[in-house]
Formats: sequence, C-alpha cells, structure tokens
Amino acid sequence: MNLQPDQIIGSSPAFLDLMDKISRAAPLDRPLLVVGERGTGKEMIAARLHFLSRRWDQVFQKMNCAALAPSLLESELFGYEPGAFTGARNRRAGRFEAAHDGSLFLDEIGTMAMQAQEKLLRVIEYGELERVGGTETVTVNVRVIGATNIDLPSAANAGDFRHDLLDRLAFDVITVPPLRERRDDILTLAEHFGAAMARELEWLTFPGFSETAAEEMLSYSWPGNIRELKNVVERAVYCCWDGEAPVCGLVFDPFDSPYRPQRLPIDNSQQEDAPSSQRDEQQPQLPTGQVNLKGEVAIFEKKLIETALSNTRFNQRAAAKQLKISYDQLRHAIKKHNIDCS
Ligand SMILES: Nc1ncnc2c1ncn2[C@@H]1O[C@H](COP(=O)(O)OP(=O)(O)OP(=O)(O)O)[C@@H](O)[C@H]1O
Ligand SMILES: [Mg+2]
Repeated sequence: MNLQPDQIIGSSPAFLDLMDKISRAAPLDRPLLVVGERGTGKEMIAARLHFLSRRWDQVFQKMNCAALAPSLLESELFGYEPGAFTGARNRRAGRFEAAHDGSLFLDEIGTMAMQAQEKLLRVIEYGELERVGGTETVTVNVRVIGATNIDLPSAANAGDFRHDLLDRLAFDVITVPPLRERRDDILTLAEHFGAAMARELEWLTFPGFSETAAEEMLSYSWPGNIRELKNVVERAVYCCWDGEAPVCGLVFDPFDSPYRPQRLPIDNSQQEDAPSSQRDEQQPQLPTGQVNLKGEVAIFEKKLIETALSNTRFNQRAAAKQLKISYDQLRHAIKKHNIDCS
C-alpha cells in the first residue's frame, strides 16, 4: 500500500515556480532528475512527482545508491539468480522488478558505479534487464526519478558519469532552490515544524516564535536547508518548558559547547586503515586565497611528526611506526624541520 506523501509547505515565488514545474512534469512518463543542495526536499519532491503521475496508485520504490557497495547495489537494483555470488541460494527480484508499473526513486544517483550505470541505461532505454548471474531478459515498466546534490554534467565531463545516461535521465531537470533563495518560506516552514512539534509534546496550542527568534531565522544562511531548519525549530520547541511564551533561544549549532572535544590532526588508534576519503572529519582546515603549497605542506608535515612524537613520548621508533615511515626517514625529517627532541 502507498502512503500519502508529507505536506509540502511554501509560498515564495521560487517555491510556486517549482510546484508548477512539478505539476507539469509529473504526468509525463519520462525519467526525471531532481537536483539540489542537501536538505532542500529532493526526496519529498520525488514522492510528489510519483503521486501526481498516472502511476500514483502503484508502488513508489526508493533506493539510495550511496548506501551499498557497487556489487551489492547492482544485485539490489536488478536482482540475482541462484549462484550469482556466494550465499545467493535463491532467485531474488530487484528493485526494478518490484517497482514494475510504478516509480523508482534513485537517490544520490551520481555515486552509482559505471557498470550499474550501463545496466540502468538499458532499463531506461528499452525497459530490459538481466538479473545478476542470469541470462534471461526481464521486461519492466518503471519510471526512474533520480536525485543528486552534485553537478552531473561536470561529473560526466570528468568521466565519473556516463554522458549517454545523463542525456536519457535528464529528459527534464527539476532544480530545487536552496532555502536562502526563498526567504519568504522560512517563517512559514518554521511555524509548520513548530506546531507539529508542539502537537507531539501535547501542548494545547503553539505560541509561535519571539521576534528575535524570527529575525535570527530570517538572517541565517541555512546551509543544511529545510532539514536544518526543522532541526533548529524542533530543538527550540522541545527546550521550552511550558508552551505558553513564544519560543526563543534558537541553537543553530548543537555541537557548540565549551567542552566540545578538540579535533586532532590524526588519530592513529582508530583510523589507521581508513582511506583518506573516509576521514573527512579529521582533515585540517584548508587555507583560503593564495597558497604557498610547499610551505603549507611542510608546516603540516612538521605538525604530524610533532604529534606522533608527543603521542609516543618521543620514542622515535614508535613514532616512525605510527607515521608509517622508516626510522631513518623520521630522523631525517626531524633534522630537516629542526624539531627539538630533547
Ligand atoms: N517544502 C517542504 N515542506 C515541508 N517539509 C519539507 C519541505 N521540503 C523538505 N521538507 C522536510 O525537510 C527534510 C529534508 O527533506 P528531504 O529528505 O526531501 O531533502 P533532500 O533534498 O532529499 O535531502 P538530502 O540531500 O540530505 O538527501 C524532510 O524532513 C522533509 O520532510
Ligand atoms: Mg534525500
């Protein structure tokens, strides 16, 4: 059974243009792309496209392409035959087969591996697929709605996304404006989320926001868009005691605390083998504007060596091991950077 989508709120000119485009694109049986920054409502819009289409009473399947490793994503989307891989004992239909006659929402479609992109291209073009490990051709009738917060034409130019797939997917592109470009919606959305939270807390009424809180919301840039606004509002509402005075005391950064743990340049005890792409939280602050690359790299290198030395109480062999360099290389670097080990 299909659940009805959540109510989409907004009345700014940019939002109304968006709704207009959605209403016109929804009934066309073509693939669509929904593009926008994080938290702008892409998933909500995809659901609306489905429920305003002729497929509204059929299934609306959702799949986040970034949630699974490439081989798992392929078998999840296209299904598999017995023996396709270790542990594949029975045939299993994939999301495409499950979405037959309905719509399939492919979130974060820009992260999809090339091999899956090739198969996706074929389903979109001919409605045909083969399950992983199989040869039988399965025919499906599925409308694909993709979403991404990356610029797919740039990804295609960089060789990370197939141009031909992009051409077919992007029959039309629905670009969702960020919240800072539709300021007229901020207070309407805040009232909506505030009132919903008040109901959850079983308050008799929702007293609204103080003038200061409203001004703060209007002047903030909302990098996390509507999801961030929802969090800020819900946090402020539940932190109020009585539900009688207007809600104030917005906290935009819930991590803000004098006791917030400091970020270390490197934490070898936990992250030793994690690839650098998975260590984003540990990356140093990057300088802006003109950069003296060699100078910055030398400063960073010195800092890493000093940290490793301090972590190992100046045991140079242990520090070298932590830095994954030889003892001689460490000695050389200590000399080069004039590090005091006494
Ligand atoms: N116009 C809107 N009216 C009401 N709620 C909205 C609106 N747009 C977004 N939301 C709410 O904001 C939150 C984020 O929306 P959604 O998950 O659709 O964003 P997204 O663009 O898919 O985010 P991400 O890029 O992080 O996946 C959800 O809780 C959603 O219900
Ligand atoms: Mg999403």
